[in-house]
Amino acid sequence: MVKVKRLVTVLAIIFVMTLTACGQTASRAEFAYQDNAPSIAETFKDYFRVGAAVNSWDIDNPDSNQCKTILKQFNTLVMENESKPENLHPEEDRYYFDKFDQFVDFCEENDIVPRGHCLIWHSQVPGWFFKDGNQDASAELVLDRIKEHVTTIVTRYKGRVKSWDVCNEVIGDDGQLRFSDWSRLVGDYDGDGDKYDFIETAFIAAHEADPDARLIINDYSIESSTDKAIRMYNAVKKMLEDGVPIDGVGFQMHVGNGTTYEKTKECMDIILKLKEIKPDLVIEVTEFDVNCYGWGQEPADVELTKEFLEEFNKTYTDLFRLFMDYSKEGLLDSVIMWGLHDGVSWLNNGHQNYPMLIDKDLKLKDAYFEVLELAK
Ligand code: XIL
Repeated sequence: MVKVKRLVTVLAIIFVMTLTACGQTASRAEFAYQDNAPSIAETFKDYFRVGAAVNSWDIDNPDSNQCKTILKQFNTLVMENESKPENLHPEEDRYYFDKFDQFVDFCEENDIVPRGHCLIWHSQVPGWFFKDGNQDASAELVLDRIKEHVTTIVTRYKGRVKSWDVCNEVIGDDGQLRFSDWSRLVGDYDGDGDKYDFIETAFIAAHEADPDARLIINDYSIESSTDKAIRMYNAVKKMLEDGVPIDGVGFQMHVGNGTTYEKTKECMDIILKLKEIKPDLVIEVTEFDVNCYGWGQEPADVELTKEFLEEFNKTYTDLFRLFMDYSKEGLLDSVIMWGLHDGVSWLNNGHQNYPMLIDKDLKLKDAYFEVLELAK
């Protein structure tokens, strides 16, 4: 009788232990910052770095869940706004380096690779660049200012910020060189038939300031519009042939739900043909997110149905699969998400969007786990 009781007890213990073990394997970490959560950066470490765009307030308190999420999930970071010209260089003779200094220190203390975004852009740029008193600045003055701006910033972070978006969004939606104050005022300064002169000046100054930094020309829709990819290809080809030190092309990748592996590869391969001119050219994914509403669409137009979410998950897994394929060919080593989680995404224009792998409560989405499966 005693033996039977003992056997029953042992069986009961085994039963409970099995249940607990099953429970443990079946349950998965809920929040991105949890100790037992997986890490997307760690999971993809043999392929590429995975990062996010952050703000100074995300990294100033190591005990916050945002900061814990960053430290757990990412091994490369970029500043969402605080390293843009309007913040770094708002007046001609004044730079405000504090935030970016702290950001770079934070990255170095935590083995995170900092990116620089962005030196020259038509947006978030202070007006003084383009003025001489009340008049438009001359081409010479704008070019001198570009040189001074780029040289000062890149020199300050020499050897520390290893990849810079030197020029951002210089190709317009019409497929031409974007009409901006830069292209308008500088124009075809050297008379060689193109108006890339402001871009060339920026890249040359960046290269002189830090010859080892990776210098990127960054743009949107070059992963989705064949026309825009071809226009970017032509612009970079011409500049490379003229000896401009461009090391790579940055794909922002603000994509829509339903974006496929095939179409994206078709566009990226157009850009990668530049390797015929510059064999060690690389690509980076610099601002990745999946806009659930599509441009101009209102939330009312979209229902987050099961089918919609399945497509969302597929969009993410398709594109990560593509990134892995490019990484295996040595073409891509950095994939950065534009934001930390749904709640802070720039795509929440007055309404909640769902573009990230981490939701607004810092919960890991199904798409996150499906993406991680790819690397297993
Ligand atoms: C966006 C930021 O996320 C917003 O907070 C800001 O108001 C506007 O700029 N392409 C870029 C990024 O290169 O710098 C933009 O960031 C998003 C589109």
